Amino acid sequence: MNTAKSLELLMEKRAEAREGGGAEKIEKLHAKGRHSARERIDMLLDEGSFEELDMFKIHRCVNFGMDKKKKFLGDGIVTGSGTIDGRLVYVYAQDFTVLGGSLSETMAEKICKVMDLAVKNAAPVIGLNDSGGARIQEGIEALAGYTNIFYRNVRASGVIPQLSGIFGPCAGGAVYSPALTDFTVMVRDNSYMFLTGPKVVKSVTHEDVDVETLGGASVHTMKSGVAHLAAEDGDMGIQYLKDLLSFMPQNNMEQPPVVETEDPFDRSCDVLDSMIPDNPNMAYDIKDVITETVDEGRFFEIQADYAANIVIGFARYGGQSVGIIANQPAVLAGVLDNDASNKSARFVRFCDCFNIPLVTFVDVPGFMPGTVQEYGGIIRNGAKLLFAYAEATVPKVTITTRKSYGGAHCVMSSKQLDGDLNYAWPTAEIAVMGGKGAVEILNARDVKGKDPEEAQKILAEKEQEYNDTFANPFVAAGRGYVDDVIAPNETRLRIIRGLRALQNKHVTALPKKHGNIPL
Ligand code: HXC
Repeated sequence: MNTAKSLELLMEKRAEAREGGGAEKIEKLHAKGRHSARERIDMLLDEGSFEELDMFKIHRCVNFGMDKKKKFLGDGIVTGSGTIDGRLVYVYAQDFTVLGGSLSETMAEKICKVMDLAVKNAAPVIGLNDSGGARIQEGIEALAGYTNIFYRNVRASGVIPQLSGIFGPCAGGAVYSPALTDFTVMVRDNSYMFLTGPKVVKSVTHEDVDVETLGGASVHTMKSGVAHLAAEDGDMGIQYLKDLLSFMPQNNMEQPPVVETEDPFDRSCDVLDSMIPDNPNMAYDIKDVITETVDEGRFFEIQADYAANIVIGFARYGGQSVGIIANQPAVLAGVLDNDASNKSARFVRFCDCFNIPLVTFVDVPGFMPGTVQEYGGIIRNGAKLLFAYAEATVPKVTITTRKSYGGAHCVMSSKQLDGDLNYAWPTAEIAVMGGKGAVEILNARDVKGKDPEEAQKILAEKEQEYNDTFANPFVAAGRGYVDDVIAPNETRLRIIRGLRALQNKHVTALPKKHGNIPL
């Protein structure tokens, strides 16, 4: 073939590959408010930065007459590398217009190739999912393909950041790759994740359920905690992926990028001086504390609607990326329960994997009591959070704003879990338990059989005595269990100075294969 002809052929083949399943199918996607795989990649990457791989790869399946049917170049997935804000990423996007984006042996090979390149070149990998699951015609080949991907997800975990966007169906075995990655973003009303679809559910459990109720974005960001962010549409979903990435380093050997800020490091946070209500049973919103202290008030919250009694998310202090964990007194008084423990433990571990310092705000009345929590394994789940904080070797700065009681005090990045800088506001109460509960236990014998009014009076006096003794930070400060009692308005300054002082922190772990976190 002469040069001109061969070039022509290349252009034709490229055009064919870029068409995916064809204009009609892309139109159908658009009508549903969805983008095509290539449109998503264009939205995600810096303009003109995409380097495509395996554009001409086709499947080898001969079952069910597949060898006689049209073979789509690329086989239902677009893969390659590019940049986001100038930083290298590897990416794959399933193309629903080709056999429903179903996963073939070939598609799995393409995904594995970019995952291997991402690990070799120490850059994040982003998967844009939109698939009907294992390609039914391929059977076991598709299963093997999925498992090859899962294996790589696990090997890459803690080495490079892995992000998943769910932009359409994600069913059956397809769900496990996102579940193994660090963060999953879904799109409301246009994406769903479940192991078994409504028909199988009906035949096994006799439940009538639609896809949205079974595995829509609301389900996974409010009930199951499987997904971390629910976007209103595909554009927002892509933006969430970029926002997440901006707080992360390229890999576990690098530091997160520093972003210049105009916000003075010593800005006094005066509103915080009157943040804590005089009544200890009154709530306030810990997010007001967070946004007041972080650079430019920008807090990127994650899993806002799941276990809202604990708040997690990313922000920056003096340009330095941090992970924030904060009890939320405005929801269930900020108590720690099973979901809150799991949510925060996983986040602490993510930050530790990728050298992102932890800033913890504590206002916690304790662990949630009761059979629901005990039967749900609060002992094991609470221990996960404790384990995660103890294991974390990144800088750990902790601010106790009000309550810090009992086991929850120990767990929330306490000094004894190798907290680096533990500060308390003057309003902090660091004790074994709240005054009311404590005096009822300690004085049960004294009030037994007494007239209820008199008993109440005795208990109120004892509670006052208990609170005067313990409901302050100075007992803990007197032992060195908190490093300093600070004025709330100084919070931003002290956090930033602390993080700067800790930037060369180095901890040598004991030699071991890996710990055994109580999963
Ligand atoms: C092959 C598939 C496919 C699949 C969809 N298609 N899913 N082809 N294997 N898994 C094809 C359809 O035949 C159709 O082809 C095109 O993709 C679009 O599908 P539609 O059904 O027309 O689209 P829609 O109405 O939007 O419905 C989407 C859907 C549905 C809900 C995802 O297609 C569906 O239920 N698919 C099967 C889901 C599933 O059960 N997957 C297997 C899971 S088991 P044409 O030619 O008409 O355009 C699994 C086990 C793996 O994944 C375990 C690993 C550990």
